[in-house]
Amino acid sequence: MSPEPLLSARNLVKEFPVAGTAGLLRPARRFRAVDDVSFDLHAGRTLALVGESGSGKSTTARLATRLVDVTSGTVHLAGRDITTATGQELLEVRRQVQVVFQDPFSSLNPRHTVERIVTAPLRYQKRPIPGGAKAFAQGLLERVGLAPDHVGRYPAQFSGGQAQRIGIARALAVNPRVLVCDEAVSALDVSVQAQIIGLLRDLQREEGFGCLFIAHDLAVVRQIATSVAVMTGGRVVEAGERDAVFDDPRHEYTRALLAAVPRIRPDWERARLRNAAKRHDPADAVARDRTDDGITA
Ligand SMILES: Nc1ncnc2c1ncn2[C@@H]1O[C@H](COP(=O)(O)OP(=O)(O)O)[C@@H](O)[C@H]1O
Ligand SMILES: [Mg+2]
Repeated sequence: MSPEPLLSARNLVKEFPVAGTAGLLRPARRFRAVDDVSFDLHAGRTLALVGESGSGKSTTARLATRLVDVTSGTVHLAGRDITTATGQELLEVRRQVQVVFQDPFSSLNPRHTVERIVTAPLRYQKRPIPGGAKAFAQGLLERVGLAPDHVGRYPAQFSGGQAQRIGIARALAVNPRVLVCDEAVSALDVSVQAQIIGLLRDLQREEGFGCLFIAHDLAVVRQIATSVAVMTGGRVVEAGERDAVFDDPRHEYTRALLAAVPRIRPDWERARLRNAAKRHDPADAVARDRTDDGITA
């Protein structure tokens, strides 16, 4: 692990105004969507943000990538303070940090060819396209496992999994140092999810980017994360190396999240119960009883 994190967030806070409550004598109320979140992401590593819907995962990612401005806190990219970057500096942040979103079809322009879509970040960055747009786009398609001669097709001519590969190809076009995947596989079938996760892991091995991977599905996170931060109510309640968090969760909320998925992965549940037994935790004794009933492992 390199000593300096690629992306470093400190004490991030985001407040949104609550609509309709402000008046002459009543100051606008504010809702704290992200409350004092800090993390470090290193090159070649994947930090997963997990938690239920509304826990502040996407907002945290948007703060850390400067897609929204912080209320307070700081963000550093490769040692550089980008918290208030503007202009050329922000454009450079946009190059170094690329995002893949949940719904590929709504993030790909339906009227543009794949060639135009995957080369768009270069045009946005006003950079020359090495070897010309077509050859460059073909090369990108190949890297994400799509047929290079499909560069002339439109998004609607692809399946969901293929469309997500196009979204990943577009992100790769500018050689990002950080790839943010915001529920990027959540809408896909389980078998397609596994393929896309395999692709992301291969690409990460080749490119060495750091990945901020957002998901509410722990089965997905377990496949790709090297470390995990568990969020609820805008706060990180538990964070650590993946296996530590999965096999020996310390926070009640993490245990509740894990308890929601044990039937599909009995091996996780066994590891969790082994560790719980070591701690003689009464909360886990309840879970153990349930397991003995045969509902789980
Ligand atoms: N632009 C916004 N204006 C007001 N509230 C927002 C905005 N974006 C997000 N929120 C609220 O912040 C909370 C966290 O949202 P989000 O970060 O999208 O959660 P997650 O990605 O974990 O589902 C939610 O309650 C959401 O409604
Ligand atoms: Mg979200």
